[in-house]
Amino acid sequence: RMSIRSSGSSTDTLSSVTQILTKLHKDCATPVPVLRHVADSMANDMRAGLAVDGSSDLKMILSYVDALPTGNEKGLFYALDLGGTNFRVLRVQLGGTDQRVIATEAEQVSIPQELMFGTSEELFDFIASGLAKFAEKENGEFQLSQGRNRELGFTFSFPVKQTSIDSGVLIKWTKGFAVSGTAGRDVVACLNEAMKRQGLEMQVSALVNDTVGTLAGAKYWDNDVMIAVILGTGTNACYVERTDAIPKLPGQISKSGTTIINTEWGAFSTGLPLTEFDRGMDAASINPGEQIFEKTISGMYLGEIVRRVVLEMAETGSLFGSSIPEKLQTPFSLRTPHICAMQQDTTTNLDAVGSILFNEAGIESNMGARKMVLEVCDTIAKRGGRLAGAGIVGILQKMEDDMEGLIFGKRTVVAMDGGLYENYPQYRTYLQDAVTDLLGPALSENIVIEHSKDGSGIGAALLAAANSKYKP
Ligand code: GLC
Repeated sequence: RMSIRSSGSSTDTLSSVTQILTKLHKDCATPVPVLRHVADSMANDMRAGLAVDGSSDLKMILSYVDALPTGNEKGLFYALDLGGTNFRVLRVQLGGTDQRVIATEAEQVSIPQELMFGTSEELFDFIASGLAKFAEKENGEFQLSQGRNRELGFTFSFPVKQTSIDSGVLIKWTKGFAVSGTAGRDVVACLNEAMKRQGLEMQVSALVNDTVGTLAGAKYWDNDVMIAVILGTGTNACYVERTDAIPKLPGQISKSGTTIINTEWGAFSTGLPLTEFDRGMDAASINPGEQIFEKTISGMYLGEIVRRVVLEMAETGSLFGSSIPEKLQTPFSLRTPHICAMQQDTTTNLDAVGSILFNEAGIESNMGARKMVLEVCDTIAKRGGRLAGAGIVGILQKMEDDMEGLIFGKRTVVAMDGGLYENYPQYRTYLQDAVTDLLGPALSENIVIEHSKDGSGIGAALLAAANSKYKP
């Protein structure tokens, strides 16, 4: 391989790569004061969003979930989960207090890329047909109670203005979806029409965000769960709020009791440590200026930020010699699972890093370059994890302010789900570290951050049961 550099001597090259890294470290730094500012801003933006619609980055969406599953629910229920690169279908047979979950069965279907840019009908037809095929395979383990229709909990993981527990209008797509004709429409109506076209008879009893499904699913087993966070393709959080702390609550909803608020925290933007690479990625995205927190901390974007930094190191610092592989110049060629896999490499020669760089970005790398890339991955994962932790502390702080002693004074569980959280150990550690840094060892001992795997599917089915049309 040629080792001729495009400019200057190899010492110049080294210093410019090092300079990029030094600047990256500085721009991404998350010392405690920065985290504290983020947590405080999160709490303030939550308050503003609860007061008046449209007055905050945070939409603070009412979920209309006040009937949480109790454990008494009985019967057969379905769930449909649409939120990222896959959609999932699931059925569950609930046996009431003693038996709880008797049987579950789930299937996952990946969504063809072109459907993310197609029409609303095409997308919903695809989903409804997947659901219909799944429903056909229902067997003796699952029993529909007499005189009932099949009921469905619909997890739809995009910002939806709920109008009731079983209806809501899509505000806008996020996470790279650009389907035409859905924004401004009731997504339950879209699904119902598609199910009708498929000849599938099912009744949507609950429309929920994935965070809300996760909270309901986790709380079914552990009543101390007060917050649910998704860290996957996108990111979001919901929590249990007192209705008397929601000034914007419509008159018909009782002011006593609690409800779940979907924060849509992906849209948060105050006080984040951002870099030129974040700005470049945002400007090139299909939703510039939107979902800035999501673009800084979630799985869809971490790999792309790393790619942009590494590309800059290659272009101005000749990190990999004089040629710049085309793949490295291709947006989203390097994905979060790749940067995660590189960080798990324990071989002395960083063989896995080398082969991922070669396969995904077309790069031939020496040891120095591999180490450099790892530094970049770690910097971006660390900033993401720590900011996610600060966000969680912001929510806890807001809750504690309104329910003194009820949050920090006792065991409080944060239910976590999503591929990023599940599969990226360094990210998880950084997140937990930030929470401990901010709360201190004593307080953070009461805050339990727990993985609730695939809680959102079961949670949606449970919410369909809790909000069943056939309740006595
Ligand atoms: C995006 C969606 C949000 C969802 C999150 C996690 O931020 O807007 O509704 O909860 O991704 O899937």
